[in-house]
Amino acid sequence: MKENKIYVDGTVGLGGHSSAILEASKPSGILYGFEWNEDSFKIAKERLKKYKERVKLYNKNFVYIKEILQKENVLTDGVLLDLGISSFLLEGSKRGFSFQKSEPLDMRMNLSLKITAKDILNNYDFIKLSNVFKKGEVPRAEKFAKFICEKRKKKPFKLTQDLVEAVKEFYKTSKKNLLAIVFQSLRIEVNKELENLETVLKDIPDILKPSGRIAIISFHSLEDRLVKNFFKNDPRIKVLTKKPITPSEEELKRNPRARSAKMRVGEKVNEQ
Ligand SMILES: C[S@@+](CC[C@H](N)C(=O)[O-])C[C@H]1O[C@@H](n2cnc3c(N)ncnc32)[C@H](O)[C@@H]1O
Repeated sequence: MKENKIYVDGTVGLGGHSSAILEASKPSGILYGFEWNEDSFKIAKERLKKYKERVKLYNKNFVYIKEILQKENVLTDGVLLDLGISSFLLEGSKRGFSFQKSEPLDMRMNLSLKITAKDILNNYDFIKLSNVFKKGEVPRAEKFAKFICEKRKKKPFKLTQDLVEAVKEFYKTSKKNLLAIVFQSLRIEVNKELENLETVLKDIPDILKPSGRIAIISFHSLEDRLVKNFFKNDPRIKVLTKKPITPSEEELKRNPRARSAKMRVGEKVNEQ
């Protein structure tokens, strides 16, 4: 991290990485931060206000990074994306992200989104629902979609518990990994997470300075595959991590949720 530089945190969350970046780039580094979730944004804004004009926060999807930086007429030295869901959203949002809580099946990261997890389960036709589960790599996706279509005729899906029960009934097990994959597949669809990631990956090289860096932390293979292929195939980016960086034993003791995290870093190629 260097002074007098411009950085972008595309997934500010509650501002942990953002404050580390602002500290490390003292006294004059600037941070553009994006956080889509309204409540996380409010908390981060409060937490980061001590950095005054060094921080510019947007309660927006990271797909707007390019548009906003171009409007501001700046290029960046580094972009960080720490993808997916935060502990705050899982545990404190009451939007049904966690299979361990009984909450409405919502799963929208931002309330301006039109479709909730409940809408998908109750209203998507069989083909669309199978595709959601297939895309999310849910085991026996088609048969599970068929089962949901039958089940909703008797009683529409409303709460997270309804989905947990359907998983238990269909798979005859309630393994946490399986529940996590089913819930994740719906969250990905509600928030269009893979489409958003594809858009931002395509845009970022356009707003990086020569030798500027992009670091992406992903939490599941669907995201990591997109990132890996993007780094491999985009001629504007040189890969700096042949293998992804994973958390140390020490870090895992402090933060067991990081067990599936993978970080890949790339650098903008200098054009002649
Ligand atoms: C893993 S957390 C990041 C935690 C953060 N690094 C911190 O230090 O607190 C991911 C965050 O990204 C946000 N997010 C997910 N998709 C987003 C998107 N398309 N645009 C902006 N923020 C997004 C989520 O709301 C969540 O707060």
